[in-house]
Amino acid sequence: MKVLLVNGSPHEHGCTRRALDEVARTLGEGGVETEVVWIGARPVGGCTACGACAKLGRCAFGEKDGVNAFLEKAADVDGFVFGAPVHYGRAGASLLGFMDRAFYANGSAGRPDVFAHKPAAAVTSARRAGTTSALTDIEKYFTISQMPIVSSRYWNMVHGREAADVEQDEEGLWTMRQLGRNMAWLLRCIEAGRAAGVGLPEQEDGTWTNFVR
Ligand SMILES: Cc1cc2nc3c(=O)[nH]c(=O)nc-3n(C[C@H](O)[C@H](O)[C@H](O)COP(=O)(O)O)c2cc1C
Repeated sequence: MKVLLVNGSPHEHGCTRRALDEVARTLGEGGVETEVVWIGARPVGGCTACGACAKLGRCAFGEKDGVNAFLEKAADVDGFVFGAPVHYGRAGASLLGFMDRAFYANGSAGRPDVFAHKPAAAVTSARRAGTTSALTDIEKYFTISQMPIVSSRYWNMVHGREAADVEQDEEGLWTMRQLGRNMAWLLRCIEAGRAAGVGLPEQEDGTWTNFVR
């Protein structure tokens, strides 16, 4: 079992990464392999709605900023943690741009859906405020993609301006550890269900109505 943790901060080793490392360590203790992917320090653009992914099965711009490499890795993992710092009261725009394009390109042009039915969690970091809103920003991708959301005993947030500050956020780190344990538990439940013959839910072919028909 493997979980991919995405560091959506421009700081490779900042507060978000400190939180993700705590989740990863606890997942490791629970027998789950982990890998951290960093989206980098350059601005990451949002979706241009060019529609190329529907033909290519990947984002037309995704070679440059890691979106396509992430989709390749995502195919081989069992769960995800996406982390972002709070910027202006919501999740940092770079992670949201990255996720817009990864989730829009996912499953296009006959490529398999790499997200559906895989557990996911959101993690945020702030100096002071905006964390619950940022969590919701990230969780929206999960709820439209058939991804069970993993929770903890408090909202998945840490506080700090730099990584060293997070060491003082005992409750934040405790929350991250519990999140890791809960994720490891859910992954084991899914694995046990699969071994017992529990199949994935039937998928009905729906109609996109766009509110006009
Ligand atoms: C552009 C920008 C906007 C920010 N806006 C907020 C904010 O609205 N609320 C807050 O508490 N911190 C805000 N911060 C501070 C970061 O959220 C905080 O330092 C965070 O823990 C940094 O995480 P990182 O080290 O992973 O980047 C902002 C930082 C930047 C660069």
